[in-house]
Amino acid sequence: MSSKKSKWKFFIFILSCGKIKCTLEESEKQGSFQKLCFSDISLSSSIEDLSISLVGSRLYTFTLEELREATHDFSWSNHIGEGGFGPVHKGFVDDKLRHGLKAQTVAVKQLDLDGFQGHREWLAEIIILGQLRHPHLVKLIGYCCEDEHRLLVYEYMARGSLENQLFRRYSAAMPWSTRMKIALGAAKGLAFLHEADKHVIYRDFKASNILLDSDYTAKLSDFGLAKDGLEGEDTRVTTRIMGTHGYAAPEYIMTGHLTTKSDVYSYGVVMLELLTGKRVVSNKSRCHGQRSLVEWARPLLRDQGKLQRIVDPRLEGQFPTKGAIKVAALTYKCLSQHPNPRPTMSDVVKILESLQDFDDEFIGPIVYVAVSETSH
Ligand SMILES: Nc1ncnc2c1ncn2[C@@H]1O[C@H](COP(=O)(O)OP(=O)(O)OP(=O)(O)O)[C@@H](O)[C@H]1O
Ligand SMILES: [Mg+2]
Repeated sequence: MSSKKSKWKFFIFILSCGKIKCTLEESEKQGSFQKLCFSDISLSSSIEDLSISLVGSRLYTFTLEELREATHDFSWSNHIGEGGFGPVHKGFVDDKLRHGLKAQTVAVKQLDLDGFQGHREWLAEIIILGQLRHPHLVKLIGYCCEDEHRLLVYEYMARGSLENQLFRRYSAAMPWSTRMKIALGAAKGLAFLHEADKHVIYRDFKASNILLDSDYTAKLSDFGLAKDGLEGEDTRVTTRIMGTHGYAAPEYIMTGHLTTKSDVYSYGVVMLELLTGKRVVSNKSRCHGQRSLVEWARPLLRDQGKLQRIVDPRLEGQFPTKGAIKVAALTYKCLSQHPNPRPTMSDVVKILESLQDFDDEFIGPIVYVAVSETSH
């Protein structure tokens, strides 16, 4: 369970829910599904003019009361996590609630009204996930907008976030093959966003935003910070630097220049976390001003002889040597200081696909057998 984290997010406006509800309903009546340019919502003056049509997106609208019932009144026993948006509760919905709604477990995210996020993030999530569907993006089932309340209803991901799984203490280490499956799934999700009509830049790629299904299928969640580019463009200059400490690309922090390659850098950071089993910025290193994981590990990624020093010791050598060398080289490229040498996400997908069943020798733990004098 993650607590609220230090972020640089800040928000421009909070609009009255009545206006938005009206816009959504009006556009639903129109019955058309028109592709929305997400960047429109950053213009507070034009928000009422947005012709939002969510009819084609098949999102359900729920009341607060219905979601209360679905989550046992947002009970503590149903509480599954909490992030910058607010608390997340497990719930259950079926066709008694809405005709045609599949019986399923859901995750209900509720905006913390005293928190730092707000209407903008809620709306961004609906606009992006309402339009884009992919096996590696978490599925948004519906939403609730009642007075100042904002809620989002997602498919339930049984294993929670990669952050919870990878850094969980007192549990068996996540095997190499599972780490590679997650890396590939997340890469496919990101490649899909980058190749979408509007070149969506995700901007908040990190371990806690990668959710895992029961079979470790990775799906991206949290599009509150995402930006779409103009068609054919994959670069934006933004004056508001947002993201999560440790994951944001250096050129983005320094200049506000946002490209799909900024996401590739963040992807490299997550790959490094998978490889090392360490958090990019631990609370301890933050407090003591220690070097970040990237500064420490990046020079070692190129040196095959030193790879052993950075690979997660909890794997006890159970990883394919050649595969790990290739993953380290790929991570090194993703973490380039300059965006140009970084690969595209579809390059990353191709490389990782070729490594999924890498079957070279494992460097297992060395076992010494003491032979007694009486034994043969
Ligand atoms: N669809 C889901 N299925 C299952 N668990 C979920 C789902 N969405 C969120 N969670 C759980 O809730 C936790 C909080 O998620 P949330 O995205 O709100 O915050 P976060 O990613 O930890 O932080 P941030 O606000 O920085 O994104 C996740 O770590 C995860 O354990
Ligand atoms: Mg998140």
